[in-house]
Amino acid sequence: MPYSVFVTRHLTPQAEEKLNAFCQAEYWPEDTPPPYDVLLEKTRHADGLLCLLSDPINANLIQQAENLKVISQVAVGVDNIDLEAAAARQIAVGHTPDLLTDATADLAFALILAAARRLGEAIDYARSGHWKTWGLTTLLGESVHGATLGIVGLGRIGSAVARRAKGFDMRILYTDNSEHPELERELGAERVPLAHLLENADIISLHVPLTETTKGLIGAEQFSQMKPTAILVNAARGAVVNTEALVTALKSGQIGYAALDVTDPEPLPPSHPLYQQPNAIVVPHIGSATRTTREQMSLLAVDNLIAGLEGRPLPKAVVQH
Ligand code: DGY
Repeated sequence: MPYSVFVTRHLTPQAEEKLNAFCQAEYWPEDTPPPYDVLLEKTRHADGLLCLLSDPINANLIQQAENLKVISQVAVGVDNIDLEAAAARQIAVGHTPDLLTDATADLAFALILAAARRLGEAIDYARSGHWKTWGLTTLLGESVHGATLGIVGLGRIGSAVARRAKGFDMRILYTDNSEHPELERELGAERVPLAHLLENADIISLHVPLTETTKGLIGAEQFSQMKPTAILVNAARGAVVNTEALVTALKSGQIGYAALDVTDPEPLPPSHPLYQQPNAIVVPHIGSATRTTREQMSLLAVDNLIAGLEGRPLPKAVVQH
């Protein structure tokens, strides 16, 4: 009797081929997530679940999944999965770190440049026929080269952003739970308290996972500590920032700009005030969205899933059996 697996979206052809050769896989056919009741029903008797970060894998679902041996997520962040509930039932949980570090750091840096040099506004300006001449004071932005970058969370992606910043001769401040003496030497980075970072950085880039501690980490008080020209970049998780406070800070000129790959809620509805802000750029959670990265992520997720079904240690586990 082959293993039965529910996959909450289609994967890349190569990853599907590998998975199909090993087990009986059922794929949710839509681009949008399966409704919760479908997810619950499909997982109830499955041996394995391969899911995305937009699928709520909560305690209720995990407790009802009587045969489930492994949950394999195509992402590094696993804040949508109740890890305690999985561990309590000895269900392994896999994720896809490392492979997406560079793609996500590239995107974070693209957002830094886009916000500092007002690329969204500049594209609209040219397209809409406002470009009449070369203007000495037209669309002035902020210098990235030589600016102070504050990195909140100097983990894999945060430190990859710091390496890119080094090429722009930026001064790097960071906060992290741990000290990173080697990175400090390599990049000249300085570990400081969050308030110091917020007061001194020209550009603040968030790279912490979403946890109970980091939820709402950047709110009204933190915006009041930033420079009026500060640029906030978020390519981590939307809920690390209090969205209402962000809108207020952007509207009132308390900060200069925000560039967001992630939002809270996600997706951000078309009527959301953030889209009306000329000093905000929103892109739809595309940090890891390069062809090669997504192919590698899909294949690793399949490898994690197969290992979990066979009772072997997962190549990349958040929770082992
Ligand atoms: C992740 O992996 O957690 C990203 O947000 C999507 O690649």
